[in-house]
Amino acid sequence: MDYPRLGFVPTMGAFHEGHLSLMKKAKAECGFCAVSLFVNPLQFAPTEDLAKYPRQHEQDFEMARSVGVDLMFVPDHAELTQNIQTNVIVSGVSDLYEGQRRPGHFEGVATIVAKLFGIVQPDIALFGLKDLQQCAVIRQMVADLNMPLRLIFEETVREESGLAMSSRNQYFTPEQKSEAAELFRSLTKAARTLSTLNPGSNDAVRITLDETTDSLRSKGFGVEYLDAVDPKTMHPATHIEQDSRLVVAAKFRTVRLIDNIPVFDKP
Ligand code: PAF
Repeated sequence: MDYPRLGFVPTMGAFHEGHLSLMKKAKAECGFCAVSLFVNPLQFAPTEDLAKYPRQHEQDFEMARSVGVDLMFVPDHAELTQNIQTNVIVSGVSDLYEGQRRPGHFEGVATIVAKLFGIVQPDIALFGLKDLQQCAVIRQMVADLNMPLRLIFEETVREESGLAMSSRNQYFTPEQKSEAAELFRSLTKAARTLSTLNPGSNDAVRITLDETTDSLRSKGFGVEYLDAVDPKTMHPATHIEQDSRLVVAAKFRTVRLIDNIPVFDKP
């Protein structure tokens, strides 16, 4: 008899098309799709928006149902976080970028994701590449701890304007949302320039990144970092390779945005 496999999408709710596309993929790959909804307090710093994080469970259940999700797992906060004495620290890939600016964030992510994997025991788990460094952290954790599952990472789903779908986009007015899409346009322009440079032209890479940063700042983006990275190690790309990606974090109005794109278009 052919048993369905279990495809798992861990989430913090406030679903958008990005979540739904992971759920559809899980269902298509496995036949059975489980989704967890848990706003994980361990990955928020005291100064961050845990209390403000959008919670819309009924709407989320409806959306999940509409794409054929078979099971929603909504654990109690205490159930997952009380009295735990184990923290999963994934060094190296967590060191820079988000890890540097959000101390403890990836520890919180890895610890909860490891617990969710232990409870749900999926055959396949799916994550969106919008959180590129999170994907690298989870890939490394699964490899290091020999976790018996396969990972699938899916490209970012975007609004028509190019703005990466994110639960935090709800904080924008429609007008601000279209202005925020400048982040993606600037990344795309920078990627196009980088993809035409001769290998080894590191100065030209730096100049392109600096110019893009300056231009974004002049348009109201508080750029925290903009860099070309190796997506597996999450360290700066020493030179541009086929799989290099551009990563950015910038505050626009009151919202902190992150995004990333491949330097080279995929064939
Ligand atoms: O990407 C998210 O929504 C969260 O970081 C995750 C993976 C569900 C862990 O809490």
